[in-house]
Amino acid sequence: MKMWLWTVVLLAVTTLTFCTPLINELEPGKDWPKRGSVKQPQDEPEITEISTEVPSNTDFKERTPVEFGDEIEEEIAILAKAAEVADTKVDYSGAQVWKVSTEKTGVRATLGRLRRRNLISTWAGNQTYLDVFVKSNALQNVTRIMKRENITFHIVIDDLQKRINEENPPLDENEIELQDRRGHRMTWKQYHRLEDIHGFMDYLAKTYPKIISVNTIGKSYEGRDLKVLRISDGKPTNKAVFIDGGIHAREWISPATVTYLINQIAENFDEESDDIKNIDWYILPVVNPDGYEYTHVKDRLWRKNRKPTIGTRACVGADLNRNFGYRWGGKGASSNPCSDIYRGARAFSEPESKAVSEFIKNSAANFSAYLTYHSYGQYLLYPWGYDTAVPPDHKDLDIVGKSIAAAIENTGGSKYSVGSSSGLLYPASGGSDDWAKAQGIKYAFTIELSDTGRYGFILPTSFIEPVARESLAGVRVLASQIHKL
Ligand SMILES: *[C@@H]1O[C@H](CO)[C@@H](O)[C@H](O)[C@H]1NC(C)=O
Ligand SMILES: *[C@@H]1O[C@H](CO)[C@@H](O)[C@H](O)[C@H]1NC(C)=O
Ligand SMILES: *[C@@H]1O[C@H](CO)[C@@H](O)[C@H](O)[C@H]1NC(C)=O
Ligand SMILES: *[C@@H]1O[C@H](CO)[C@@H](O)[C@H](O)[C@H]1NC(C)=O
Repeated sequence: MKMWLWTVVLLAVTTLTFCTPLINELEPGKDWPKRGSVKQPQDEPEITEISTEVPSNTDFKERTPVEFGDEIEEEIAILAKAAEVADTKVDYSGAQVWKVSTEKTGVRATLGRLRRRNLISTWAGNQTYLDVFVKSNALQNVTRIMKRENITFHIVIDDLQKRINEENPPLDENEIELQDRRGHRMTWKQYHRLEDIHGFMDYLAKTYPKIISVNTIGKSYEGRDLKVLRISDGKPTNKAVFIDGGIHAREWISPATVTYLINQIAENFDEESDDIKNIDWYILPVVNPDGYEYTHVKDRLWRKNRKPTIGTRACVGADLNRNFGYRWGGKGASSNPCSDIYRGARAFSEPESKAVSEFIKNSAANFSAYLTYHSYGQYLLYPWGYDTAVPPDHKDLDIVGKSIAAAIENTGGSKYSVGSSSGLLYPASGGSDDWAKAQGIKYAFTIELSDTGRYGFILPTSFIEPVARESLAGVRVLASQIHKL
């Protein structure tokens, strides 16, 4: 071996042996303090019951109990199973997405019946519209029924598989070359696999050890790491913010946006405003890694995690955003394991939601905000989701929400509606934002990213940068508001 090579090896060994513990001790950014010494890994969390107000105005229309996606979508699960057996991807050729106005009486009831017969499922919606997914083999019958009931709709996506094929084209050679030079494979020109996202996080921790560190806070059902990245200059007076993405597997714009936020704050940290620097950022880009990978290799429309349930109705997956332990099991969540909004066997029955809650509970960080990124619809939602009540400080949340929405619109032009999730959309219990709020985290928001339905979940890659840039503007506004607390 050449002399210089020996020197390099010797240096590396010396560094690893002697310097690693030292570096750790000297870098405040590496220390992730735990709250007290109390740890309750097996217990259900202690929940502080926060008093709620039923809003005095009657803006909240009385609606039939559960209207959104509460019904079995077994047919879709069966499609997925067939693809599994055949070792192919689920094929959505000829499937359509319609926008349906639900203001006329009877429309919701008709759609509910179609859903129970597994002819349609609901992608998104609010109090006046629903985006409805129609399987190709059901198109004829559903169209006939809609005509008979005089329900008007318009076709937004006329061949879903075509959209899926066009959504995430491979990178060109220039981009791939750039990736190699950068030291990680992450870009915001493509939706990346989990490996690239994790590689990017590890790269940042290695490159900026003084401010960035990565911890695995738990494992998914299939054993994948739940990796949280922390950006912190270690000042003890810092506030803290927790951000997550990818709770729902198919909402690809969410991890893409969250990793963009990481990249912008990490790469320019020294030039950032004090508002940003005086916060410890804890960021988990993919809460549901098993589901996320599954959407890449098997079923683009998978939503839940991948933990199987056993019993008479054996199906795979729980909706992690119905599995959190505040008012778990209430409205807008299903007890049917085959439903897309299955709440799980009990609160925090799923390893992914459990890990997030344990981490937040046991952290000494004084979290002032919890942001969870979803898609789609362009909404900034605050608690409560479980019912049409609001927390006592809802006016604060509304004001901050509206200032975030204004920053988003000023940056990229997208209009986000602001309100409580149950008030603006529909009740949904077991959501992560409700739980975070119940822990005393002041600004708990669910952010439904773009778009408003033209592409829905299948948002082309050209949207990543504009959507993420708007979101960053919103996060900056939130940061400034936190320092006013
Ligand atoms: C409800 O959805 C429709 C269609 O996507 C949209 O035009 C409308 O603005 C939404 N309502 C609210 C309050 O955001
Ligand atoms: C469509 O309706 C016909 C007649 O009611 C029925 O025989 C057929 O099974 C239906 N197709 C689907 C996919 O439900
Ligand atoms: C639909 O409209 C037609 C013609 O306007 C009317 O005769 C029929 O009764 C309507 N059907 C329903 C279910 O409202
Ligand atoms: C946490 O932050 C809030 C305001 O954001 C402040 O009122 C409170 O004193 C802080 N708690 C601790 C333990 O630092």
